[in-house]
Amino acid sequence: MGLDKMGNVIILGSQWGDEGKGKIVDLFSDRFDIVARYQGGHNAGHTVFIGEKKFVLKLIPSGILRPGKQAVIGNGLVIDPAALLAEIESLESAGVEVTRNLFISNRAHVLFPSHRMMERMSEGRPGRVSIGTTSRGIGPCYEDKIARRGTRIADLLNPPVFRRQFDSVMQEKAEIARALDIYEELDLCAIRAQYEAFGERIRPMVRDTAMLLNQAIAAGRSILFEGAQGSMLDIDHGTYPFVTSSSATAGGACTGTGVPPTRIHGVIGVSKAYITRVGGGPFPTEALDHDGEEIRSRGKEFGAVTGRPRRCGWFDAPLLRYTAAINGFDSIVITKLDVLDTFDRIPVCAGYRAGGQDICEMPPTVDEIEKLEPVYECLPGWQTSTFGIDSYDALPAKAKDYLAFLESRTGVEIGSISTGPERNQTIVRAGSRFQSLVG
Ligand code: GDP
Ligand code: IMO
Ligand code: MG
Repeated sequence: MGLDKMGNVIILGSQWGDEGKGKIVDLFSDRFDIVARYQGGHNAGHTVFIGEKKFVLKLIPSGILRPGKQAVIGNGLVIDPAALLAEIESLESAGVEVTRNLFISNRAHVLFPSHRMMERMSEGRPGRVSIGTTSRGIGPCYEDKIARRGTRIADLLNPPVFRRQFDSVMQEKAEIARALDIYEELDLCAIRAQYEAFGERIRPMVRDTAMLLNQAIAAGRSILFEGAQGSMLDIDHGTYPFVTSSSATAGGACTGTGVPPTRIHGVIGVSKAYITRVGGGPFPTEALDHDGEEIRSRGKEFGAVTGRPRRCGWFDAPLLRYTAAINGFDSIVITKLDVLDTFDRIPVCAGYRAGGQDICEMPPTVDEIEKLEPVYECLPGWQTSTFGIDSYDALPAKAKDYLAFLESRTGVEIGSISTGPERNQTIVRAGSRFQSLVG
């Protein structure tokens, strides 16, 4: 691809989510024509600050905050129409133009209250592994999709088809729920009518978005693909079963939008200068001590969707090498560097050991990941504020050394650094691959 013309780029999380994707996508979306989400649902929570205003995007791509840009909800998403409409209303009341710029795939799946009911069952049932989900019904909705009994947006817009599908699926769900003794009385007629009304409200935004995107590309327009969750929460490549139910990694951008791999020009990973995780599951570099507390309070590490405290720990280089391999990162963005400003020493996990051996590949099972012993190298902290710094040269020497160390241990270029939640608190490194892709 000639670098004079903007290509199509995927930006996604390289850890367990909440890396600051929303801020990065919002910032760089002005260089693209369209921003498209490709997976997940309203389990995502992307917080973006623009001046005094705070926006939390859940289903709608962060690019919607840029006037005149188009935003696409691709076929790979599961949509709770009530959550979508509430998000549209809250954005519009804050002065963001949504309905004219948002396009929703006719092939995306519809999430129902029964999905939340089924999730309560799987999360609460004795003997079942509790994943610590966001309780939004995401997993059960994807279960229905894969089981080929899901309802898609196109079905919702076809009342006779929708009624038939809804009645038969809900009857089946009620039988299962009764058999498992978790049945909650749902007023199915009211829910059906409510969903039909939702369908009418979103109808003007529904398109064949795969065609819309491919036609846009043919006309020379550029697309930024926005990942939700993170690579280690990917259904195939993450810490299964402590994952979400969708393809958060780069491949998901193609299946989740209908844009072919031959039209993608770059992949950028977003990573914190440390690491966090919400919910259950293995976490080799978790800091369960005072340092973990300090990261949490300085980084305000509380979930944007559920408010849960995020588990905090040190940067994990082998984990990033793994996610770089499966996503093919051209460059990474390191966010929240400023959160580490106060530490006098900063451990970085450079490798794993288990049973007296070096472990060079990410093990496939939770049992094995739990047995990993991180091998830390400690770097000196810079102990001065980096908050808001917007040029690489202005960073303290020890912060530059820290970044150079991460680069050397991950083997991936650090093309951009974020030093605060606001758009202008960002560094783009001159001459980087990152700059050529989005700068
Ligand atoms: P996402 O899910 O990947 O979009 O990330 P979240 O929005 O859930 O969490 C990231 C949080 O960190 C948000 O509250 C951002 O406003 C904030 N944030 C992003 N980048 C920076 C940064 O460089 N420094 C600081 N202090 N906060 C940041
Ligand atoms: P963003 O896009 C962090 C986690 C949940 C749970 C697991 C499965 O803001 O980075 P789910 O409700 O998806 O079935 O829960 O995945 N999880 C996230 N963690 N950030 C997210 O999204 C997440 N979305 C889901 O905490 O462990
Ligand atoms: Mg988040």
